[in-house]
Amino acid sequence: GDNVLYLAHKHGVDLEGACEASLACSTCHVYVNSEHCDKLPDPEEREDDMLDMAPLLQENSRLGCQIV
Ligand code: FES
Repeated sequence: GDNVLYLAHKHGVDLEGACEASLACSTCHVYVNSEHCDKLPDPEEREDDMLDMAPLLQENSRLGCQIV
C-alpha cells in the first residue's frame, strides 16, 4: 500500500524497511515533521513496541511503514 516506506522506495529514498511492514523491525524509522505529526493517529501498541528499539528515538519518531 501507499505507506511512507512504500513511497520512499518508489521515490528512491534510502529507507531500509527490512521486515516489509510486518512490524518486526525498526529499520523504517523516520522523523515526522511536527505539524504533520499532530495529524497522524497515535501509534498502535505494536508500533510503539518496535519504536522502543529504534536508535535515536525522538518525540516525533514513527515507523514509516505504519504511516498511511
Ligand atoms: Fe519493519 Fe516497518 S519495515 S517495521
